[in-house]
Amino acid sequence: MTEVQPGAGLVAPADYVGAIAQHVSSVCVITTEHEGQRYGLTATAVSSVTADPPRLLVCVNKSGQTHEKILAAGKFCVNVLAEDQDRVAMVFAGMGGKALDRFATGEWVRLATGSPVLAGASAVFDCRLGATMEQSSHSVFFGDVVAVQSRPATDTLLYGARRFRQLRKVFSATGEAAEWL
Ligand SMILES: Cc1cc2nc3c(=O)[nH]c(=O)nc-3n(C[C@H](O)[C@H](O)[C@H](O)COP(=O)(O)O)c2cc1C
Repeated sequence: MTEVQPGAGLVAPADYVGAIAQHVSSVCVITTEHEGQRYGLTATAVSSVTADPPRLLVCVNKSGQTHEKILAAGKFCVNVLAEDQDRVAMVFAGMGGKALDRFATGEWVRLATGSPVLAGASAVFDCRLGATMEQSSHSVFFGDVVAVQSRPATDTLLYGARRFRQLRKVFSATGEAAEWL
């Protein structure tokens, strides 16, 4: 793959950051377990890739401590946070400082791979690490999903325009007229 070099006719990174901040996403905590220790970080750079095979991707900064642990463990779990789990999001974003045990917040269990699974999460994707792709400061980790849990009645926590947010209006995307639910 050809990497575009910085400055080659591209917008300034600050302009990109200002615009991508308007992109609202669900808030996830990516976890792994390696040699008996648990690791995890808050991430919004998460996307579905394919349903068959069931595969998703996460973009993880190489400078964090969880990055190398995911690589070493060969597995990770994507926990899609519920609306009332904003405190978990902040803790796993490092807001409690480096010495804090992040897993002291929330209740953590296991599913298939042994990666930590957050009880009460809106959805959980337990993955084996598949392909990885380096992209400048980040690695893209592809996850092959070996177990899932979902709670359709639970609203998912959102993040966009530099704030945590809640779902407000819900409407059906099918049909000609918007149907507010
Ligand atoms: C709302 C929000 C979204 C974030 N999304 C990502 C992300 O997609 N990828 C990433 O590497 N870091 C992301 N971060 C930053 C990490 O959560 C943060 O740097 C964390 O402390 C890294 O932990 P680690 O050192 O254990 O890897 C996000 C932070 C916040 C608050």
